[in-house]
Amino acid sequence: TEATTPAPERTLVLVKPDGVRRGLSGEILRRIEAKGYTLTAVELKNATPELLAQHYAEHEGKPFYAPLVEFMLSGPVLAVVAEGQGVIPGFRSLAGATDPTVAAPGTIRGDLGRDWGLKVQQNLVHGSDSPESAEREIALWFPTF
Ligand code: TYD
Ligand code: MG
Repeated sequence: TEATTPAPERTLVLVKPDGVRRGLSGEILRRIEAKGYTLTAVELKNATPELLAQHYAEHEGKPFYAPLVEFMLSGPVLAVVAEGQGVIPGFRSLAGATDPTVAAPGTIRGDLGRDWGLKVQQNLVHGSDSPESAEREIALWFPTF
């Protein structure tokens, strides 16, 4: 008899335009792989206003929404699907707190964020916050995956 294997947990990671511009894509992917997660899709993409409206739908109407979308359109984004046990909370732990000025040392935002006096939005990475968000976001960024 064959045991059914549950679908592996996966998350959507974005290296935001500040991370790509600063040449930190490799360092960020290295940290994901070092933790033992598997990269199952990686693609450099230019976002569109339509894609970002869907990706950030939960934030529509908040004061930081328009500048966030504008920032996400300021250059290419590295879209990544990472897979592994506990990868959704695990990547958010690797990323650290939303605001890089308070993100803990050892985290991506804590170690590499440089936003003193700048904008919280320039925090290098996005990571899905739940299994539902992950599947929704993966479908947006990798429609054929
Ligand atoms: P959020 O989903 O709250 O954070 P996270 O990326 O940690 O899941 O917010 C989405 C993005 O919006 C966040 O990465 C940066 C930006 N943002 C701001 O610019 N200002 C803010 O006050 C907040 C809460 C978020
Ligand atoms: Mg979020």
